[in-house]
Amino acid sequence: MKKIKLSKLLQAQGFGARRACEVMILDGRVRVSGELATDPGALVLAEALPVEVDGAPWTCRAHLYVALNKPPNYECSRKPSHHRGVLSLFPSMFSLRNIQPVGRLDHDTTGMLLLSDDGQFIHRQASPKHYVPKTYEATTLDPVTPDLIASLLAGVLLHDEPKPIAAAACRQLGPRRLEIVLEQGKYHQVKRMLAAVDNRCEALTRTAIGKLWLKDLGLAEGEWRFLTDAQLRFLAPDARKE
Ligand code: URA
Repeated sequence: MKKIKLSKLLQAQGFGARRACEVMILDGRVRVSGELATDPGALVLAEALPVEVDGAPWTCRAHLYVALNKPPNYECSRKPSHHRGVLSLFPSMFSLRNIQPVGRLDHDTTGMLLLSDDGQFIHRQASPKHYVPKTYEATTLDPVTPDLIASLLAGVLLHDEPKPIAAAACRQLGPRRLEIVLEQGKYHQVKRMLAAVDNRCEALTRTAIGKLWLKDLGLAEGEWRFLTDAQLRFLAPDARKE
C-alpha cells in the first residue's frame, strides 16, 4: 500500500486546503492512531487510518459511498433552486470531496438515495448497460386495479419515448398503493407511467436499489450511513436475479 504525506491525506479526506491542513497539524489539532501528530510531512498508510481532528474521530477512506433516506422537499441538484439540497444533510467535508447523488429523485420523492465521490462508480450506476433495478412504493389518487397493474407490466407509451416502457415487476400493496420495479431511469418515470394509465402518483418512495433495501439500513428520514463492501455488492446490476 502506498504511503502519503499526512497533510495531503487530510486534504484528500476533505479537511481543507493543503496549507490549512498543515496548519491544523502544527497547531496540535490532529491525532493519528491516537497519537498527537506534529509533522505535516510524516508519511502514513492512508487506508482505514483512524485520525482525530479537534477531537472528532474520522476513518480515512479512499472513496465515500453513502446511502441517505431522503426526506421530502430536498433537491438532488448541486445547485438547488426551490428547496434545500440533499448535500446540506452531510458534513461540509463531503462537499469538499465532491460527493454527488447517484442519479436523482424528485424533490417530493423520499427514500433511498446513494451518494459517492467515486466518478467511476457513479458513471457505472448511471449507465443503461449496467442498470440496477430500482424499487418504488407509490400512493395513487385513484384505486389500483388488476388492469392497471397489467398495463404497467405490459408497457405504456410515454411522451418522447419511441416504444412502450414496461415495469420489471409490479404488485398491489393496498387499495391505493403499489410496488413497482423499474429497469430504466427515465425522467419522472413512475409518475409518468401512472399518468399514462390514467391514474396519478400522490406520493413516492424508493425502497430498494438492486438488492439493497432501505428497511435493512435502519435509517430514519434525513439519516445516512456509509455502505459496507457487502452492501455495495447488493448494487450489482444482476443482484435482484440472484
Ligand atoms: N420516478 C419518478 O417519477 N420520480 C422519482 O423521483 C423517481 C422515479
